[in-house]
Amino acid sequence: MNSPSPTFDTQHFKQSLSRFPTGVSVITTHQLGEANPAEWGHQFVGLTASSFNSVSLTPPLVVWSLGLKSRTLPSFQKTSHYVINILSEQQLALCNQFAFGQGDRFGGVDYALGTAGLPVLKGALAWFECRNRSQYTEGDHIIFVGEVEQCGFADGSPLVHQQGGFYSAQKLPG
Ligand SMILES: Cc1cc2nc3c(=O)[nH]c(=O)nc-3n(C[C@H](O)[C@H](O)[C@H](O)COP(=O)(O)O)c2cc1C
Repeated sequence: MNSPSPTFDTQHFKQSLSRFPTGVSVITTHQLGEANPAEWGHQFVGLTASSFNSVSLTPPLVVWSLGLKSRTLPSFQKTSHYVINILSEQQLALCNQFAFGQGDRFGGVDYALGTAGLPVLKGALAWFECRNRSQYTEGDHIIFVGEVEQCGFADGSPLVHQQGGFYSAQKLPG
């Protein structure tokens, strides 16, 4: 389907989007791509993602999107399950490691294996173990809808991303 050319540029679009604050997640799955495991250095892949959101309560569905250029794409396209870990305000280092780390992104990362045998990060504020239910290519991303099979949460505050920076959330009086 052809779309009319927008009257704004990508940078302007990104700046407008950045006014919407999000939480930050790290999404993990098995390394199933064509990428050389030696290059990844690990049996798992993971990336930082802020595109997570809820979709449906019954059945329990969530959504997130992955850029077509991500090296993790072949793994997420093939995997049966993934885990969405919601980061706490104490986990900015993990956010950076899973966004920018080359080589083994799981180096030094403390995690336990969930029911599907995938990393649930220690200290995460919440986690959702998902069946890889459906995928939709749109523009330069693939939208993933996950069916939540297990989830959990902990006390604490989320890491918040907005306007290119990271924040902790503060409750307003009233
Ligand atoms: C705060 C933050 C949020 C991000 N959210 C997403 C996202 O929702 N989807 C995505 O594909 N990439 C997202 N990224 C970028 C990926 O983390 C990054 O491009 C990716 O890990 C690049 O490495 P890869 O090619 O090995 O996947 C985000 C990065 C940051 C710092």
